[in-house]
Amino acid sequence: MDTIFDEIPSLAKVEDREFGAPRAIKSFVLRSAGLKPFQIEALRQYYPTHALEFQREALDFKEVFGNDKPVIIEIGFGMGTSSHRIAKDRTDYNYLGLEVFLSGFAKLLSLIGKDDLPNIRIMRFDAVEVLTHMIVEGSVAGFHIFFPDPWPKKKQQKRRLIQVPLAMLLASKLQKGGYIYCVTDWEEYAHQMLNVFAQVPSLTNPYGGFAPPKEWRPTTSFEQKGLAQEFPINEVWVERQ
Ligand SMILES: C[S@@+](CC[C@H](N)C(=O)[O-])C[C@H]1O[C@@H](n2cnc3c(N)ncnc32)[C@H](O)[C@@H]1O
Repeated sequence: MDTIFDEIPSLAKVEDREFGAPRAIKSFVLRSAGLKPFQIEALRQYYPTHALEFQREALDFKEVFGNDKPVIIEIGFGMGTSSHRIAKDRTDYNYLGLEVFLSGFAKLLSLIGKDDLPNIRIMRFDAVEVLTHMIVEGSVAGFHIFFPDPWPKKKQQKRRLIQVPLAMLLASKLQKGGYIYCVTDWEEYAHQMLNVFAQVPSLTNPYGGFAPPKEWRPTTSFEQKGLAQEFPINEVWVERQ
């Protein structure tokens, strides 16, 4: 039987690895998708207009968006409801959303496709590889990383996204004055974030510690679960000097 992967082969791959090459430690695990009919329909209808495919080639933002507006990259948008809201409300920016979770990817594709939002594109691929191969140094106005997987167990913590090598990679892609905005409900990870960014010489923290919440950031789906358990929400905002 044909599946959506036969129709859109690039969807089947979320990392770029030669056959048999060892796998690097990844910040995600793939969950089975269990797509609903509306998600399959969104993939068919909007993948050509609102998704981008991985390539080992620099992305030309002007070509993609048709203008020079500053570009914000979001890593791990999950179900994408807050990404959709931000792209709709804050139209002075273009957005590139990166997510490996197919169900969330298809959900956001349906939201932005139905509204035909011109200022957002999304990719189903490992963000680290996208940043490494497709994003030009000094070209990004901001990064949003909302509720990255906390990987709370000691043995899993090597999977956490916010570690010095990724922070250096993010900093290298930022324009001068560009920002990295992370939010987490895992307190110990929040402190790790402050500590990691403090180790990158080109980044400064204008708040000296945790940042006040930005009024334009909507509550995310993952955040709602943490709030229900009364986890503290900590915000981290650093800027490229
Ligand atoms: C805990 S969820 C939070 C999702 C969303 N930001 C929210 O707050 O509801 C973290 C998401 O990051 C995604 N993710 C983790 N590592 C990633 C990577 N290297 N590239 C793309 N997505 C990644 C996971 O698939 C997961 O959906």
